[in-house]
Amino acid sequence: MTEPDRYSFRRYLDAKRSVDRRARNQRVVDAFRRALERVDEPAELFEIGAGTGAMVDTVLEWTGDTEIRYTAIDVDSALVEAATDNIADRVTGRGHGPTGSDEPVRVDRDRATFEVEFRTGDALAHLSGAEGTYDAVVAQAFLDLTDVRSALEAVATSLRPGGIAYFPITFDGVTAFLPPIDSDLDDRVERRFHRRMDTTEKVGGETGDSEAGRHLLTAIPATGGRVVAAGGSDWVVRPSDGEYEADEAYFLHHIVDTIESALEADGAIDDEQRRAWATTRHEQIEAADLVYLAHQLDVLGRWPASAE
Ligand SMILES: C[S@@+](CC[C@H](N)C(=O)[O-])C[C@H]1O[C@@H](n2cnc3c(N)ncnc32)[C@H](O)[C@@H]1O
Repeated sequence: MTEPDRYSFRRYLDAKRSVDRRARNQRVVDAFRRALERVDEPAELFEIGAGTGAMVDTVLEWTGDTEIRYTAIDVDSALVEAATDNIADRVTGRGHGPTGSDEPVRVDRDRATFEVEFRTGDALAHLSGAEGTYDAVVAQAFLDLTDVRSALEAVATSLRPGGIAYFPITFDGVTAFLPPIDSDLDDRVERRFHRRMDTTEKVGGETGDSEAGRHLLTAIPATGGRVVAAGGSDWVVRPSDGEYEADEAYFLHHIVDTIESALEADGAIDDEQRRAWATTRHEQIEAADLVYLAHQLDVLGRWPASAE
């Protein structure tokens, strides 16, 4: 991460799992699962920016009857280690130890084997050099960190003919908090936060994209692919009976802190106003009063466009 990180990113990613599970678009999930069932086994999957392994666990759950070989890459070695630890209790055979990047981990399943290899590195650089290798590429909550078109060019290169790519939880330009503090300030916070995303260099020297979700819908055809399924996957985090689900209060504190850090670096909102905004939002979380919305899209694409 390029912004200062005062909370634990690892804990944030783990806390995000219940929010993502609620948000994922079921039609796009179904289309992805159907497409995976039609792939010759073992299906070769690749994940960009796997974090602590949330999608590895999800795909494991979705593919009980399909033999899978899964390569999960993240640029942050501490997260790769966390992902390896998270999956440890399901493991029946392993090559290397906890940081163990270069041998697959085999997960015990009744009907079809699932092998996953966790690696540290730049996933897009890897894909650019992996021509025609994968049946499916997955990237969850990733594309807003980079230039969507360049990322898709690398993805398209790496796919076998008729290969698919699944992009769940792709941020798309709306961040909202309730109750309002001051509508002018709330609007400025949202605008300056998104502007900071759009102007800060992140993955591979590219700036981020606060409208990555909608750009994906045009970048798939522009890179020779076809949009197979697309739909909303908004995050809606709200208290119920005076508390947040699972570790979602932590998730919210991390989001507010990330926005405050971005605003601090941006400099357009003065320090006092910014700190007061963040303090109020953290207090609203403590009081189980804050509701947070983020607009996102889930998209499934296939390359080339002519493939069935
Ligand atoms: C917002 S997190 C999402 C993590 C995970 N997909 C999830 O949804 O829980 C984005 C992840 O992308 C990783 N990342 C950023 N640039 C990368 C790159 N060039 N190659 C691989 N991973 C990258 C970050 O380290 C981070 O773990």
